[in-house]
Amino acid sequence: MLARLANKRILLGVSGGIAAYKSAELIRRLRDAGAEVRVVMTPAAQQFITPLTLQALSGNPVHTDLLDPAAEAAMGHIELARWADLVLVAPASADCIARLAQGMANDLLSTVWLATRAKLAIAPAMNQQMWAAPSLQANLALLGERDVAVFGPASGVQACGDVGAGRMLEAVELADACAGLFATGTLTGRHVVITAGPTREALDPVRYLSNHSSGKMGFAIAAACIEAGARVTLVAGPVNLPTPDRVTRVNVTSAEEMLAAAQQAVAGADMFVACAAVADYRPRAAADQKIKKSADTLTLDLVKNPDIVAAIAARADRPFVVGFAAETEKVVEHARDKLVRKRLDMIACNDVARGDIGFQSDDNAMTVIWQEGEQVLEKASKAVIARQLVALMAERAAATGLQVRK
Ligand code: C5P
Repeated sequence: MLARLANKRILLGVSGGIAAYKSAELIRRLRDAGAEVRVVMTPAAQQFITPLTLQALSGNPVHTDLLDPAAEAAMGHIELARWADLVLVAPASADCIARLAQGMANDLLSTVWLATRAKLAIAPAMNQQMWAAPSLQANLALLGERDVAVFGPASGVQACGDVGAGRMLEAVELADACAGLFATGTLTGRHVVITAGPTREALDPVRYLSNHSSGKMGFAIAAACIEAGARVTLVAGPVNLPTPDRVTRVNVTSAEEMLAAAQQAVAGADMFVACAAVADYRPRAAADQKIKKSADTLTLDLVKNPDIVAAIAARADRPFVVGFAAETEKVVEHARDKLVRKRLDMIACNDVARGDIGFQSDDNAMTVIWQEGEQVLEKASKAVIARQLVALMAERAAATGLQVRK
């Protein structure tokens, strides 16, 4: 269940109550599950626990003030509201619940609550008599009508000595409840490592050998994996593309750097997608100084680059491995041969003889091949093709024993 929190952005609102100490533990639980956490504290909350504690635990500055120009410049309340996938107020005091129910916007937390399109949840915490009060229950009913999830409260001994309903749920229960608000994707809880773009092989300090790969397909696959619930590491050669949301990007230049980065990232990963157009050869040695123009001809001495996808497939702890093949003739036959030779689980092959798809294009079409079958993905945008490919990867990986984590 907690795997559903991977890559999710949770805005934790902390209002004033003794249960605020449990928020510290909650932040840890959420982050352990892979969520990113930002914290908004009301002034009363800061009487119970310091912003510094929650800043250290969340790894992000804590937001406390609606009218602080410096904080607004760093990440304003509207940005914060847009950033979140879930706004959870824990603990939610009786006063805070009243203000959220009535749509007040006179502090940062209530303003963000109004300004967000994220999922909304509260974890009430208060004295049992306050919890039972008709006005509190009326406010709660209002929030319920607006699809606000209410986690708890639990019953038991209270800080004030009373016994009854009003204790905030424990951090582990709250983390589970948050996870329950998110759907399971086909790659939930999985770590996917992707190579993308070209590599550059230096000839001298100013020149290199490379190719026309744009990186678009690999970047689209990274975005599709995120959509499917995975954690993604994208090892990217030199390309001019923005990093897709929530993707961890590692920039490399040469094939040897790409191999080292891929080997490092793939330890413990579930899938490896080799989408990069790796240069097959590199100069035996890059010249220290710029090569001068003199003779009419110049011969380059090239050596073969390591085969990254084959190296990953040869690991004892190999993930599910997907390769790519760009062919101009006998497309499927050559790709099938590559599938076996490089010990891949799946290969996606492009017919690069077609001028309307491929390298620099925004569209693609491919035949996806695995040992027992194949499927044609008809021409579509790279984003659409990427989603279809990721669905196939998840299906085949599950068929070979990789189970989706709940
Ligand atoms: O052998 P060929 O270059 O056609 O194989 C293509 C596949 O192998 C792609 O998945 C590509 O990313 C991968 N590859 C690699 N390292 C290389 C060459 C290709 O990972 N040195």
